Amino acid sequence: MAAFGTEFMPTMAQSHYQNGLWTRPTIVPLNTLQLHPGAHVLHYASTCFEGLKAFRHQDGSVHIFRLPANIARMQQSSRLLGMPEPDAQLLEQMIIDLLKQYLDKVPEPPGSMYIRPTHIGTEATIGKAAAPTSESLLYVLLSPVGDYFAGGAKPLRLLLETENMRCAAHMGIIKGGGNYASALPHILQAQREHKADQVLFCPGGDVQETGAANFLLIDGNEVITRSLDSSFLHGITRDSILTLAADLGMSVSERELSVEELIERAAKPHCEAALSGTAAVLTPVGTLLYKGCEIQVGTGQLGPTTERLRSALNAVQWGQSPDRHGWLTKV
Ligand code: COI
Repeated sequence: MAAFGTEFMPTMAQSHYQNGLWTRPTIVPLNTLQLHPGAHVLHYASTCFEGLKAFRHQDGSVHIFRLPANIARMQQSSRLLGMPEPDAQLLEQMIIDLLKQYLDKVPEPPGSMYIRPTHIGTEATIGKAAAPTSESLLYVLLSPVGDYFAGGAKPLRLLLETENMRCAAHMGIIKGGGNYASALPHILQAQREHKADQVLFCPGGDVQETGAANFLLIDGNEVITRSLDSSFLHGITRDSILTLAADLGMSVSERELSVEELIERAAKPHCEAALSGTAAVLTPVGTLLYKGCEIQVGTGQLGPTTERLRSALNAVQWGQSPDRHGWLTKV
């Protein structure tokens, strides 16, 4: 399978926001996208996106995982960026109509069809550095995918970054392109200088999230992760894993986690850590890099609880266990 996110279905669903209204959605070839070089998005980063997946079940049917939650987060990101809020029904219809055209292209598990709704400010103006775009384009891309991390479920090496933040503190909750861009220099440096896979941002010693996924510490029967505030992305996979952990009788602690506590707990042989996200699913963390030391998390390998939680999530997504929480939308 091609590298994650490099293969696209040839058409996309789109709707324009003009004169205070969304246009009737259409499905058009990808190469019809035209942008004025002065488009608001190209200068002032008026852009946000979502990442969700559709899965093929054994009977051949296709189901989207947590569609309403992703649409609600897209609306929130748009609102917080001062962009027009996409209509929920409109976006849902765009996603479903597009997917219906490519049902036969949805990979069998463990693959899936990654859905990327994107919202960009299209008003041709470079004069609105401190004002919102009055026009925008909402579009949906489809990309058949396998594993996000090249090594599959191979445990990751994370550099703990205590000086810098992933993005501006009040922006973390937004799934906006700018946040990924601002994390990038730190990730590149960590990869170059420390052979790390990712950076775990812990500004002032407060364990938050990585560049592209949430962080979970699994200590025996307890899952520990930061409680929600505006400083980091409210992962829908994070929420799903926490819900499944509680269903499995585990205790879920959403609270502050300091680097000191993380390192102390990581040293226990049974401790596990993982990254959660639509793309990452639940990828184990094997090593923490901090102040020049390599700290192994537990055995440094994929642990049984990470495996169990990942399997529980996949089982719902793949239709192998009951959808108790109503997370699937049949296409
Ligand atoms: C996702 O997990 O869906 C994301 O948007 C992260 C991205 C880096 C692929």
